[in-house]
Amino acid sequence: MREIYSCTWPFAITTVLFVVILAKFLKDKIKKKNVKKSTHKLPPGRRGWPLIGDSLNWYNAVASSHPPGFVEEQVKSLFGKWAVVSADPTFNRFVMQNEGKLFQSSYPKSFRDLVGKNGVITMQGEQQRKLHGIASNMMRLEKLKFHFLEDIQRVMLQTLSNFEDNQVILLQDVAINLMVNQLLGVTSESEINEMARLFSDFVDGCLSVPINLPGTAYHTAMKAREKIIKKINRTIKKYRQEGSLEGNNGVLARLLEEESLPDEAVADFIINLLFAGNETTAKTMLFAVYFLTQCPTALHHLLEEQDSFRSKSGGVENKLTWQDYKSMPFTQCVIDETLRIGGIAIWLMREAKEDVKYQVHLDENVYNGALNFNPWRWMDPENQEKRNWRNSPFYAPFGGGARFCPGAELARLQIAFFLHYFVTTYG
Ligand code: HEM
Ligand SMILES: *[C@@H]1O[C@H](CO)[C@@H](O)[C@H](O)[C@H]1NC(C)=O
Ligand SMILES: *[C@@H]1O[C@H](CO)[C@@H](O)[C@H](O)[C@H]1NC(C)=O
Repeated sequence: MREIYSCTWPFAITTVLFVVILAKFLKDKIKKKNVKKSTHKLPPGRRGWPLIGDSLNWYNAVASSHPPGFVEEQVKSLFGKWAVVSADPTFNRFVMQNEGKLFQSSYPKSFRDLVGKNGVITMQGEQQRKLHGIASNMMRLEKLKFHFLEDIQRVMLQTLSNFEDNQVILLQDVAINLMVNQLLGVTSESEINEMARLFSDFVDGCLSVPINLPGTAYHTAMKAREKIIKKINRTIKKYRQEGSLEGNNGVLARLLEEESLPDEAVADFIINLLFAGNETTAKTMLFAVYFLTQCPTALHHLLEEQDSFRSKSGGVENKLTWQDYKSMPFTQCVIDETLRIGGIAIWLMREAKEDVKYQVHLDENVYNGALNFNPWRWMDPENQEKRNWRNSPFYAPFGGGARFCPGAELARLQIAFFLHYFVTTYG
């Protein structure tokens, strides 16, 4: 009965997570000593060109829609450093659990300049834990009911209604509009569009080659970053003058009301969330639609489930409720399956703080028909333990350990609602 769609991608991944370790220790070892004398064996792979190495390929791969192709090779010289690229779930988990101990999160300077040095992504230690706690608190499951449910649907319908009559739906518009709305709390279409454009320039620059000369994407991004900060600064000023931000449900407003971050850390905090949330959410939506169009049985099953909410509430105008969200088992399977094969969050980077020996076993066979898009696999009782995305060793689409994605629940809610409006409108 089930028609299983075989995914056509030429790579074999058993996890959606790739961890790049900028392995300084390997570089030092090779510089100082004779490699052959070293007791540490390097993982297989080539080194790329000196200095630039495969950085360009890396940037291109990350910016493209088929990044995993790049990850097939195991050792790369990225950003002028030695790097190990790991697609092994157990190893990745080991790395994530040892954040701040054996490994620490590390990004190129150009990237740090863009997202800001005061944000959670680039922070370490105590400061990172504090910011991570704030972010997790603002977007945890119980908060979603009150602060996001209405707005997500309002912005979603607003954005989707702009794409009537066979026009191509720009899914990335959906994601960025949602992020701008949820983080800054702006709801008017023109304001959302203006901010989305700035953010777009900004993010383009984050994944481009970091040359800060007029005309380059990186330069445009730095300029966009400044304008975004100005906007955030204006909101802070308004809040300080008026003592509240009436009718603003955004993370920024709640951050000012509930927490006491210094002003210069507020902008970076928001920009970090935006950066982490837009690309990942956009890609998940895009891949979900792609996989579903390739797998009509799944699309049909999903439509059936989502149609029941439409007929119950009598039309698209009636918004979904929290209870609706809690009764979409197949939709949740589609999201999990998309995250499993999508390879969404591939830009995790870690620097080894000391020499690390680890038995890397590739070719682990964790999933039957690992390359097939098969949402029903998640209904199998056998897979329930694996499915636990908070601490499964085999399924970690939102990372783990100290840097576990604070936006995970929000992302899932957005994607579920997106799938609802997408299939009931266009299905
Ligand atoms: C499907 C969508 C998403 C996926 C697959 C995803 C995945 C991840 C992963 C794997 C990490 C860990 C990074 C690391 O270990 O270095 C992470 C971190 C993070 N995510 Fe998400 N994410 C998603 C959506 C979001 C959203 C919507 C937000 C916020 C609006 C968000 C905010 C963050 C932040 C701030 C971090 C950094 C946490 C830290 O460094 O302490 N993410 N995400
Ligand atoms: C958001 O992510 C999408 C998908 O990767 C990307 O194309 C787009 O430029 C990003 N937009 C913004 C405004 O950040
Ligand atoms: C925004 O405000 C912060 C803190 O008051 C300040 O340090 C920064 O220079 C301002 N940035 C812009 C672009 O206005």
